Amino acid sequence: MSSTAPNNDAKRYVVARKDEIAEGGRIIVKVEDQEVGIYRLNGKFHAILNRCPHLKGPLCLGGVVSEVYSPMPGDIRGNPSKLFVTCPWHNWEFDVDTGQSYWSARGPRARLFPVEIEHGDEVTAELESGSVGRVPGPYKAEVVPVSLEADYLVLTMRGIPRS
Ligand code: FES
Repeated sequence: MSSTAPNNDAKRYVVARKDEIAEGGRIIVKVEDQEVGIYRLNGKFHAILNRCPHLKGPLCLGGVVSEVYSPMPGDIRGNPSKLFVTCPWHNWEFDVDTGQSYWSARGPRARLFPVEIEHGDEVTAELESGSVGRVPGPYKAEVVPVSLEADYLVLTMRGIPRS
């Protein structure tokens, strides 16, 4: 792997040729003593630190799942444009675009809140408009900027804390 001198403290590394990762595939590279998983999903490249923010499990050894929604009882659908990496240790899921999780095992218990039933299409429209939101979990995986330059993937490593 080669690096270039960037501005400030970031360093950029050529880590793979574009064609080394098939659509839906993933490789793990080691850069600055850190393992980074590089994914090619829906034609886009994503890079995520291979260290789960929960208990430091090997996050990138888990699978990739899509968002699931149900417009009506018994009708369960996947949204292939919204993808999550699943940690193999405790199955926490992290958004491949932002690293954010949306599941908190330590959430409040036995406290009641109003709940309504809404049609799935309505919920999807509300999510897209921002009138409803997801509740971020307490953890966020480190996502690493990755760019495609000619036929090579280039990582930008900056300020990732050591384990
Ligand atoms: S270490 Fe990843 S979910 Fe617990």
